[in-house]
Amino acid sequence: MSTNTLEMEKARPRFDDQLKGRVAIVTGAASGLGKAIAVALANEGVAVIVNDVDKENGVDVARSIAAAGGDAVFQFGDVSDVKDVKGLIRTAIDRYTRIDILVNNAGLQHIAPITEFTVEKWNHLIGVMLTGPFLTTKYAFPHMRAQRKGRIINMGSTQSLVSAEFKAAYVSAKHGLLGLTKVTALEGAPHNITAVAVCPCFVRTPLAEKQIAGQAKYHGMTEQEVVEKIMTAPAALKRLLEPEEVAALVVYLSTDVAQCMTGSAVPIDCGWTAR
Ligand SMILES: NC(=O)c1ccc[n+]([C@@H]2O[C@H](COP(=O)([O-])OP(=O)(O)OC[C@H]3O[C@@H](n4cnc5c(N)ncnc54)[C@H](O)[C@@H]3O)[C@@H](O)[C@H]2O)c1
Repeated sequence: MSTNTLEMEKARPRFDDQLKGRVAIVTGAASGLGKAIAVALANEGVAVIVNDVDKENGVDVARSIAAAGGDAVFQFGDVSDVKDVKGLIRTAIDRYTRIDILVNNAGLQHIAPITEFTVEKWNHLIGVMLTGPFLTTKYAFPHMRAQRKGRIINMGSTQSLVSAEFKAAYVSAKHGLLGLTKVTALEGAPHNITAVAVCPCFVRTPLAEKQIAGQAKYHGMTEQEVVEKIMTAPAALKRLLEPEEVAALVVYLSTDVAQCMTGSAVPIDCGWTAR
């Protein structure tokens, strides 16, 4: 091989088979983005623990990955519950002996003005989308530290970076999650543990579809009009993301070449935050 070819070989990023044999936990993986991420990681040869509170659909996701030749197991668990999170981490260690990738994806939305936002709803959203990732990180961390390696990918949102009316708990949880990502990156670095927050704009999932249907009813518009005129109004590209587009980014962020993307937000937002 000539020196030139060698230099080119070194410069070429290698993703092929890099993730094969690694172990990932994906929370909220029975639906939408989590499901797409679980499938995309499994397609790269990653063994996936599919977590959700939705047992029926979660089991289906794990089964369909296995049917396609992948390795997946469903683990029921509410990410805001300490006992369930300990059980989730224990399942990963008992079955696979390690946790290489933790994707904190479970989430939900509730829309109401602050004065009408119930304390119960506030606590629920903060519990799932902020306390949940704190708990999974807290209990996965010792194992990642012992391995001297770990990757934590937090599912943020455009609303980790900018705000929106009537989404007090969601915006607060997602901004808080970016803060948790930064702290995790600093505390993790000496142990080769890295953390990043993916920040997508609207993705075509049940969570977004519910909002589109609600807005269409409220404004007397078609769902297409809602997407183009209301939901994507701040974005440069007037379309929803597909779950597979975000999942592909998560696969890339799981590879070693993305390791230095730590402590930061990675927007995938159709130009939403460019203004
Ligand atoms: N869809 C979007 O437009 C969009 C945009 C940016 C970020 N996100 C984020 O992506 C993530 C996934 O959202 P989605 O759009 O796929 O929604 P989704 O409703 O399709 O899926 C969310 C999943 O989380 C699960 N879940 C809810 N509470 C849970 C809990 N306590 N413990 C474990 N699992 C729980 C649900 O059962 C569901 O399967 C969320 O964190 C969301 O905030 C979504």
